[in-house]
Formats: sequence, C-alpha cells, structure tokens
Amino acid sequence: MKLNIAVLAGDGIGPEVVAQAIKVINAVGEKKGHQISYQEAITGAAAIDEVGDPYPEATHKICMEADAVLFGAIGHPKFDNDPTAKVRPEQGLLRMRKQLGLYANLRPVETFPSLLHKSPLRRDLVEGADFMCIRELTGGIYFGEKGRSEDGNTAFDNCVYTREEIERILKLGFEYAMKRRKKLTVVDKANVLETSRLWRQIAQEMAPDYPEVETQYMFVDNAAMQIIQWPKNFDVMVTENMFGDILTDEASVITGSMGLLPSASIGLHTSVFEPIHGSYPQAAGKDIANPIATVLSAAMLFEYAFDLKEEGQMIRKAVSASLDENFVTEDIDKSQAKKTSEVGDWLAAYIKKNN
Ligand code: IPM
Ligand code: MN
Repeated sequence: MKLNIAVLAGDGIGPEVVAQAIKVINAVGEKKGHQISYQEAITGAAAIDEVGDPYPEATHKICMEADAVLFGAIGHPKFDNDPTAKVRPEQGLLRMRKQLGLYANLRPVETFPSLLHKSPLRRDLVEGADFMCIRELTGGIYFGEKGRSEDGNTAFDNCVYTREEIERILKLGFEYAMKRRKKLTVVDKANVLETSRLWRQIAQEMAPDYPEVETQYMFVDNAAMQIIQWPKNFDVMVTENMFGDILTDEASVITGSMGLLPSASIGLHTSVFEPIHGSYPQAAGKDIANPIATVLSAAMLFEYAFDLKEEGQMIRKAVSASLDENFVTEDIDKSQAKKTSEVGDWLAAYIKKNN
C-alpha cells in the first residue's frame, strides 16, 4: 500500500520523538511491503521564527494532501512567560484542528502490565484499567469569542456549542461504546453550565437509539475524582474540549508516565496522530524524552488512517516487549535511562527481527 504521511515535528522534544516513530513506521513498512513517503512541514514556535505563522498555509496544504499527519509537539517557554505575545505556537495547533475539521480526539488510557508498579495509584486500582476518552476538539471555550475590555482589566472567553457539534461527538461516543464494553460516561457540568445542559439533553435524546449501551452522566469534578478512585469504572468517556484536555492529563499518569499515551484526532479531513504530552522544552535536544507515546500514535495511525490492524499490532507488541525488558527512558527507570534514539532503534530492530 502507498502511504503518504505529513510530518509536523514541531517544537521541543517533538523532532526527537517523531524521528523514533518514523524508524518504527519504516520497519513495519519494510516488513509489510508498504511504500511510505513523508512530507515534512513546519509548525509551532519553529514556524513563527521562520515565517511568523505557527500553521502556515503551505503546511495546511501538505496536511490536506496527505493520508495521515504525524504530529510531534508544540510550545516554547518564551511564549508561556509572555502573556502579551500576539502570535503563539498553540494557535498553530488549534488552527490545524479547526482547518482539518478534527472534531474528535481519541485518547485511549491503557495500563501496561510491566509498569503497574510505576503508577501513583495502588496496583489493584489500575490493573486492567482501560478506557477511551473522546474529547470534543473544535468547539467550546477554546474557540469561542475571547477578549479584553478597553482598559485591559476584564477578560472573557465564551463557551459555545451547537447541537450539530454535540450530536456528532456523542454519536461517536455511543458507537465506540457499542464496539467496546457498552458503557458510555457523558461528562459535563450540567448543574452550572448551559452548554453542559444542552449536551446532557442531547445525550438523553440519543441514548434510546443505543439500548445496549449503559449511559452514565457525571459532573466533571466527580469524574476527576473517580478517575483516581476507581478508573475501572470507565469504558468510553465523552466530553467537551476543555474538560477532556484536563481529564486526560490526569488519566495519563495513572499508567505510570505521561510519556506513554498516544492520541488520534479525526474529523472531516486528514486525521492527525500525536502524543498527548507537550513539547517538554527542558529535555529538548538531550535525547532523553520517552518516544513511546509518539510510537503508539504511529500504531494508531496504521489502524485508524489505513485500517492496517496487523501493522498497529506489530508496533504494540514491540512496545510491550521493550517495557517488559525494561529497555526504557529515564522517566520510567532512572537506573536504566536509555536514550530516546536507543529506544527507537530497539523497537525498529525488534519489529524487523520478530515478524
Ligand atoms: C493538548 C494540549 C493543547 C490543548 C495545547 C498545547 C493547546 O494541551 O493537546 O492536550 O490544550 O489542547
Ligand atoms: Mn492538554
């Protein structure tokens, strides 16, 4: 099969972790006889420095023409500490999501048997935890009108959702629940927010169409607590943009390291595959960041963008093997502290040898 992949490595550790995912994709491609081509494009702070725009039109064009996008990370401390900056790297990510119509962000939270001891939670709580968080990605407070009063001392961010936006993401939630353990948790703040009340109303209208699915409604503060208290309660969770952002950072650490969780963003045009972690600027260029989240995003890329399930499995098996053998970066085991590039080489070699 011919696979045309756009590569947006971005900032910080982005280029390093993406390079490892590419080694792994190439190893799989070689084994399975796929012809893979990569189109690199700039984004984030790197693109601001080069052309003054974190998601230039030329980059968008490359994404639109590709079959899938592999994305690293964006963000740079020089912007984080400057609240007056007009152009910010994150705007690039948000514009990419909007322009590609990526309304759903799928963030699977899975635990790895060999890493259970790394979780901040007790083993019996995390063992077997496995849920999918579906985060709405192109609406809500991230994209509502925002601004300041004339004197600069009052600020606002509007949270807006339309029925159409809510229906399409809930539909995905119900469909995923049907494919999994048939339990859907709709997370909102319907006791306070009007947008949440509309979410809940629409979910209640749709639920009878999925009689096999047990639909549960949960306020976001309660969900934040239950993710820690009893993560096995969840199968599929669906929620709005900002709640999903916050809850998935929380959920990611129960697996032992934030450097492990991948994501797929799907919608109207090309799908994007990216780790859920950020650009980790302190580690940039040091060859110490954990590449697993990006490597597992590559597994999702095969599975979701090309329906190549075996290819995805080849990557997952290699990742599990590396964890079992404790061939890991310092975030998992300081006494091992393998380099980012060494882990990438190990995974690619494993795939070549064992398939
Ligand atoms: C994420 C990130 C982004 C978000 C930032 C970088 C804009 O935290 O993908 O979760 O908030 O969506
Ligand atoms: Mn986030």
